Amino acid sequence: MPDAQSPIWHPFTQHAVAPPPTLIARGEGARLITPDGRRIIDAIASWWVTLHGHGHPRIAAAIADQAATLEQVIFAGFTHAPAETLARRLLARAPKGLAVAFLSDSGSTAVEVAVKMAVGFWHHRGERRTRIVALEDGYHGDTFGAMACGERGLFTEPYWPMLFEVERLPFPRAGAEQATIEAFTELLRQNGGTVAALIVEPLVLGAGGMRMYPPWVLKALADLCRQHGVLLIADEVMTGFGRTGTFFACEQAGVAPDLMCLSKGLTGGFLPMGVTLATKAIYDAFYTVDRAKMFFHSSSYTGNPIACAAALASLDIWQDEPVFAHIEAIAAQHRKRLEGLHARPEVVETRQTGTIAAIELCVPAAGYFAELGPRLYRFFLERDVLLRPLGNVVYVLPPYCITRDELNAVYDAISEALTLVSV
Ligand SMILES: Cc1ncc(COP(=O)(O)O)c(C=O)c1O
Repeated sequence: MPDAQSPIWHPFTQHAVAPPPTLIARGEGARLITPDGRRIIDAIASWWVTLHGHGHPRIAAAIADQAATLEQVIFAGFTHAPAETLARRLLARAPKGLAVAFLSDSGSTAVEVAVKMAVGFWHHRGERRTRIVALEDGYHGDTFGAMACGERGLFTEPYWPMLFEVERLPFPRAGAEQATIEAFTELLRQNGGTVAALIVEPLVLGAGGMRMYPPWVLKALADLCRQHGVLLIADEVMTGFGRTGTFFACEQAGVAPDLMCLSKGLTGGFLPMGVTLATKAIYDAFYTVDRAKMFFHSSSYTGNPIACAAALASLDIWQDEPVFAHIEAIAAQHRKRLEGLHARPEVVETRQTGTIAAIELCVPAAGYFAELGPRLYRFFLERDVLLRPLGNVVYVLPPYCITRDELNAVYDAISEALTLVSV
């Protein structure tokens, strides 16, 4: 049994060493509330999903209404108003050229769908382009296709023999961005005709350590894709819905991808849902009277009406409430507080894109590195702050409703935690 009190096997949890999980009874704004009244600040938006706050009444009400009207219907041969409206509204906000929406249930499935669409596109056009190019340190999910696109590491090691080969471009480190562009140029020069798609997390690599790169690099990579007819998959599962300061990160680079993957903040963080947006050209490659060329992909809950209603309510909040003002306030507060941390000897680097802030800590030894993350996690939780460092990177990615005082409390905890880091 994972734990004497519970039969649950939790994700990303080594039960042999992890303390028992914290029981949460309620959520309210940026707070997670325990049965005995502890009010924990959710500084990572519960794995980057919560946008407007836990328990936002408008989304809760939309879910209740939809559940009482139509909770689920098979999405092949049937459709419904929440899905139709959601697809139209998402496409209206998405970069130009994206024309259709395929619904699924998570970020990983949104990526699986995008990769299958890209490879299927070339297959149906009679071209043998099957190779995928990705960025070093990228993360795209935990299903097999998504794992294959992500960086090979400890997390995926047992499955390496089963993952398809992916070409990797070096991460565009500050000052060495040109090396990434040159590597892609060279790869395309030698083998461009075999490449189906480039998949990237635009501007910020999330699970790879909140590593950030500038919009001009994304633009240069997108331009190379265009020149060589390679499809561009923008995995905006983490960066979408305002995280980087714009509604989608691609906007900052003026880039129009061929496929875009969305999830996480899509429903405001209330329900699991994925969407893959695609161009008409991709749709058209599957559009023929030949039934063998249909897109063979589905899952039981595809297009779930309740998830669609939550996503629509979240988009309404974007429309009616000053969400961008909250985002700007968070970004400004990050800037100010990062300045204070930047000079500390325990800090190697601070970085920020929009509402995402990261503090990279000094790591004197590898063993120390392994221990530091869990120690910091416990330290923060004792102060009623939820932060989950990625190795030696502490990052803050809060719900947009977080108050100034709450965000200051998060930074005060981080500042205090630096005493755990030996330099
Ligand atoms: C960029 C990116 N893509 C895909 C995923 C996978 O999403 P999910 O966990 O919903 O399957 C994640 C999750 O963290 C992600 O950050």
